Amino acid sequence: MAQHIGPAIDRVDGRDKVTGRARYAVEHPLANAAHAVLIVSTIARGRVTAMDTSLAARVPGMLAIMTPMNAPRLRPAGQSERSAKRELTLLQDDRVRYAGQPIGVVVAETLEDATEAATLVRVRYAPEPHEVTLERAAARLHTPKEAGRPDQPADERRGDVERGLAEAEVRIEHVYTTPFEAHNPMEPHATTAAWDGPRRLLLYDATQGVFGCRSRVAELLGLDPGDVRVLTPYLGGGFGSKGPTWSHVVLAAMAAREVRRPVKLALTRPQMFGPVGQRSQTRQTIALGARRDGTLTALRHDTLAHTSTFDEFMEAAGTASAMLYAVPNAAISHRLVRSDVGTPSYMRAPGWAPGTFALECAMDEMAVALEMDPLEFRLKNYAERDPRKPRPWSLKSLRECYRIGAERFGWSGRPPRPATLRDGRERIGWGMATSVYPTHRSPAGAIARLQPDGTVLILSGTQDIGTGTYTIMTQLAAEALGLPPARVAFRLGDTEFPQTPVSGGSQTAASAGSAVHAAATALRERLIRAAVTDARSPLSGLTVDDVTLEDGRLVARRDPARGETLVALATRHRDAVIEARSELSPGDEEERWAMYAFGAQFAEVRVDVDLGLVRVTRMVGAFDVGRVLNAKTARSQMSGGMVWGIAMALHEATRYDRALGRPVNNNLAEYHVPVNADVPAIDVTFVDAVDPHANPIGVKGIGELGITGAPAAVANAIYHATGQRVRDLPITLDRLL
Ligand code: MOS
Repeated sequence: MAQHIGPAIDRVDGRDKVTGRARYAVEHPLANAAHAVLIVSTIARGRVTAMDTSLAARVPGMLAIMTPMNAPRLRPAGQSERSAKRELTLLQDDRVRYAGQPIGVVVAETLEDATEAATLVRVRYAPEPHEVTLERAAARLHTPKEAGRPDQPADERRGDVERGLAEAEVRIEHVYTTPFEAHNPMEPHATTAAWDGPRRLLLYDATQGVFGCRSRVAELLGLDPGDVRVLTPYLGGGFGSKGPTWSHVVLAAMAAREVRRPVKLALTRPQMFGPVGQRSQTRQTIALGARRDGTLTALRHDTLAHTSTFDEFMEAAGTASAMLYAVPNAAISHRLVRSDVGTPSYMRAPGWAPGTFALECAMDEMAVALEMDPLEFRLKNYAERDPRKPRPWSLKSLRECYRIGAERFGWSGRPPRPATLRDGRERIGWGMATSVYPTHRSPAGAIARLQPDGTVLILSGTQDIGTGTYTIMTQLAAEALGLPPARVAFRLGDTEFPQTPVSGGSQTAASAGSAVHAAATALRERLIRAAVTDARSPLSGLTVDDVTLEDGRLVARRDPARGETLVALATRHRDAVIEARSELSPGDEEERWAMYAFGAQFAEVRVDVDLGLVRVTRMVGAFDVGRVLNAKTARSQMSGGMVWGIAMALHEATRYDRALGRPVNNNLAEYHVPVNADVPAIDVTFVDAVDPHANPIGVKGIGELGITGAPAAVANAIYHATGQRVRDLPITLDRLL
């Protein structure tokens, strides 16, 4: 049945991307555009006392310098509906609250002029003592008041965890830490701002959410949201960092208003570390209790993470522990430490990535304590229903994932004792972990419109953050319409199109995808109706049910010779618009079903015990993601997540200098991410199943699932190779020697 949904068709935007025809936020040609560069603070806390711009002003091509002293004053924005919004720093006062905070904007004719002028601005500060480490800032402990999502509360309990632990025959308790991590999409945060008169604003923004950007900018600049248009036809990665709207977007608009010209502003790579979010550092304590037979009796998971001094973001690391295993007694807590850093934010599988690292390492440690196979231990505690609420899973094929993954990896050949597999100087280890990420969906709309040439145009406001949205939407529409994908054109990334949510939380396919499918399905019926009610059509007089649309042709079901092409229909209706619109919202399915994507990951490492060098040599992942819309882009999403899991396990960390209070490796040379040589053959398999409850198209979301579990699979493999347990990420050689 499904002809166009599922196959590994090439990205429909691939050619535009590799030929450079795809334009990113500061690449759109706008007449008379000027270039802006941010000046950011070099201290972590204090005040700006003076900014001497006299040298900078002499740079040829200089147009304007905005500072806290001269920037236009904005009306304070309301404190209403604060979710997913970050407190911004818009040059409204002289406070410095973190290193890397925007404290000025230089606008000039060229990027080179602006860059040079920015280096010539002399800043004087009145510094104040700062603290950026988790332990030392612990005096500023803070209980989060809002957890971001109602299903990720700061505190969660069931049963009696103290008694469960007391009654356990085997107990473990360990502390796991994960560092600050910086999103490093290839396209930095970037905005082009162009005013049309004093009240109408056009933004080309590198955003994961054009509608969120529009409302935030309108709110802060006192504009009518209808007078702000945000366009994001292409996005060079986001990973959550481009979900919220950050200060530079508003500053670019302010600067453009000052110089009365379009302004392009892109952050430099070092500026990507600080003012645009990061993954919080976490310190997670997990206690597990079990009976000798491997039955879990209790689980406690306490998370300490950073937030900034002026805003709140909770890395919900404990939520996975609340739902993944059938443990009767559980206590989850999250506490935040107010620290002199930029507000942390969503990073691919926020909460779930660091949380499953700690949980899945602890599960491995308990399996060792029980002398049980780690996979068998997980199966022993398999949750048949949601442990958090009395409701079934919408679809859970995790057992299949374990079985398929173990088979493809050859898990049954694993020696139970660590440090037994050797090859010369190298020790070989095998580890595994569970992947899990919640399935979300938000209201979304789409328009499907017949074009004069018989093709169909689909419009939906959503974004393609690099995941393949253009392609899967084209496939969904083609399937619903009975058209070859080449005869469907899909456009996105525009606030003039029907409203859709932020491309975050792995919800784009579920949300915008369902809307696109619905609009295309409605258009199909409308096209058939237009034919059967038209005396000029060979299908005239038939009922809607008598006619089908296949391969661009409307045909009578009982007489396939009788019919006409969409081109013929479109030609006759040249002067009328035939279109259909969808507006879909989730129902009560989140109440009735526990909806998650699942997976099982297996890793092999080789550790050179003399050098402490770790290489991941094999990875296998088997995933339950509901329906796979495109086997190729889906596989890319999963392997991308697994590569990031290797990065989390072995490479990534933003290092802060405590004395300076700022990141010292704020560049791609010293902030390590895996290169091809670090990435082994990655084997990805999907359990083929459609989720019957989650949403109309049966998907569960894939973007964030792959990174969950992956770091633990690698860490557990390192333990199995060496007998050494490292509980702090990244596992660098100094921690192994
Ligand atoms: Mo994702 S971190 O919700 O873009």
